[in-house]
Amino acid sequence: MHAQTSEIKRIAITTGGGDAPGLNAVIRAAVLAALNRGWEVYGIRDGFNGLLMPEQFIEGGLIRLTRDRVRGITHLGGTILGTTNRDNPLKFPVRQLDGSVVEVDRSDELIRAFLMRGLDALISVGGDGSMTIANVLSQKGLWVVGVPKTIDNDLDGTVITFGFDTAVSFTTECLDRLHTTAASHRRVIVVEVMGRYAGWIALESGISGSADAILIPEIPYDLNKVAQKILDRERQGRNFSIVVVAEGAKPQGGSVSVISREVGRAERLGGIGEKVAQQLQELTGKETRLVVLGHLLRGGSPTSFDRLIAQRFGAAAVRALENGQRGVMVALDPPTVRYVPLEEATRRMKSVPLDSDVILTARDLGICLGD
Ligand code: F6P
Repeated sequence: MHAQTSEIKRIAITTGGGDAPGLNAVIRAAVLAALNRGWEVYGIRDGFNGLLMPEQFIEGGLIRLTRDRVRGITHLGGTILGTTNRDNPLKFPVRQLDGSVVEVDRSDELIRAFLMRGLDALISVGGDGSMTIANVLSQKGLWVVGVPKTIDNDLDGTVITFGFDTAVSFTTECLDRLHTTAASHRRVIVVEVMGRYAGWIALESGISGSADAILIPEIPYDLNKVAQKILDRERQGRNFSIVVVAEGAKPQGGSVSVISREVGRAERLGGIGEKVAQQLQELTGKETRLVVLGHLLRGGSPTSFDRLIAQRFGAAAVRALENGQRGVMVALDPPTVRYVPLEEATRRMKSVPLDSDVILTARDLGICLGD
């Protein structure tokens, strides 16, 4: 049997998947809240690799998280624990003698290693992949509470994930900067942004940054419509246009643009911006440039909004453990935080609803959505 509420002495924190601004703020908040309850806190290095491959870490796979260790990190991007979006313990990539790679389920081994280190409960900070792992570990008896992170904002069950606001704010600033150069050179500038299969970043930054067209995965596009919009603007004396393209956007009847597929990890998206830029240049005859913002969206200081929800999530995760809750994810449900079963949070991806007021706003503003 695993520890009961009153028995908590040691907890661990892990950060998994792509990093997002606010991870360090969650770590600090959870550590301070746990230390204030007299618990010991350990950080697992690089997702779960600190437990599965401890020999790979000079400092050891677990780091004792003291007040000193988490001092002054709230505003820092990245994660002091390290992270990975490769070594999923449920589908761990193992290279065979013939060079091929097979996926192995190492979850039982992971739980054994966790308990052998005297750890009672786990706070798992991550996106859909990490919450799916957390859910399986919880079903196998590990005491887990999840915290939703991702710049993509595609996790169901929470109104927002931390990291998203920072990514949208940064993209908006880039769009402001690109407006002046696009206008000066009478160009079309296509801006590709991350977001995986959801269009949240593209849509919200596109509206905030006054884009003329926004292409998102939820609305397969017809580039003739975008070209039409650009040429209409031209006739009105607006000789430049800004087009925001989500990396997961796809043409009507077409498919997403994939950079690579590897065993043991999600497919890497990218390249759609280049196709869109090239085709728009052909269709409009206007000089077109492409900017791929890529991993820039994952770096930098979290916005105050992200710092605040990250810290609220970290503290709420500790309160959940104190109250004996397990198998749940902290979720933002303004004005408060609540807890949703991990099972529910991982059931489906949160895409942009086509009837949402944000979509309606874009249409009311005359922004072309490619349909
Ligand atoms: O999920 C976060 C994210 O940044 C996605 O927007 C993007 O598709 C992916 O991670 C990129 O992953 P990697 O770090 O492997 O390039």
